[in-house]
Amino acid sequence: MSRPYVFVTRKISEEALAPLKDIADVHCWNSESEAVPEEVLVEHARKADALLTMLSDKIDQSLLNMAPNLKVITNLAVGYDNIDIKAAAEKGIVVCNTPDVLTETTADLTFALLLATARRITESERYVKEGLWKSWSPYLLAGSDVHHKTLGIVGMGNIGQAVAKRANGFGMDVLYHNRSRHQEAEQQLGATYASFTELLRKSDFVVCLTPLTEKTRHLFNKQAFEEMKKSAYFINVGRGQVVDEKALIEALENKEIAGAGLDVFYQEPIEANHPLLKFPQVVAIPHIGSASVETRTTMMELCCANIMAVLKGEQPKNKL
Ligand code: DGY
Repeated sequence: MSRPYVFVTRKISEEALAPLKDIADVHCWNSESEAVPEEVLVEHARKADALLTMLSDKIDQSLLNMAPNLKVITNLAVGYDNIDIKAAAEKGIVVCNTPDVLTETTADLTFALLLATARRITESERYVKEGLWKSWSPYLLAGSDVHHKTLGIVGMGNIGQAVAKRANGFGMDVLYHNRSRHQEAEQQLGATYASFTELLRKSDFVVCLTPLTEKTRHLFNKQAFEEMKKSAYFINVGRGQVVDEKALIEALENKEIAGAGLDVFYQEPIEANHPLLKFPQVVAIPHIGSASVETRTTMMELCCANIMAVLKGEQPKNKL
């Protein structure tokens, strides 16, 4: 009997792949840094029993239609807006993501980005490295305090709660907005539920962690930024398309908000000449929320374990 065919859309850890290679023919796209071209993905999908995909791969209905043997897709991310889940379900294809294992790492990054934005860390680094530091002065690169301010978390899933835990250590008041109330977050983390508008009006830092769905697309629009305090910062570690970027640019230009820390963008990678990147008060990083070596390796192992489970006829751990 022929072995199942697995296509991995990037070069990933050989160690993570090793158990999968025992039971399947595994082919990886030969680059770690560049996305697989669509035609190559199609060519492999045609014969694949399983796909291990990245959040940058578009897995839509037309691709699924060309993959008659496909049984499972495992996405190296907690988010899965790049996959047409409905079309996959209709075809009986199992889709898995990598929740939980990236929670703490992504919360660390969220907090790092918040701190970097508030305390002007990237601007300050450039200032020193470019030789601009001529004398110490009282308000040199003075930013905003973080401790004891109000943090508003939009999207109180696991990552949101892990961010709230960190905020507790900084003596912050935590507001949250979510599809449903979260008793545990309220009782154990002292987070207070707020309507979206109330959260925007009261928060000094608005952190967006909500997944991208038809309901959340452009949630952060012109009106949302107008509701925010002029002294407040917007931090996005969720998905770029939750934000109307034109409205964000206007809000920054018109000083409706104080600054933004962005790990995700409408179009990724964002072009270097994009208007958002010209603001000194914007800290921009390349979608590295879960990017620690340990966590990314664990995510790869989890993707492989989920593929193996499905190929063996077992229940995968992270079936959506
Ligand atoms: C995810 O896993 O969806 C995150 O965006 C990774 O940083």
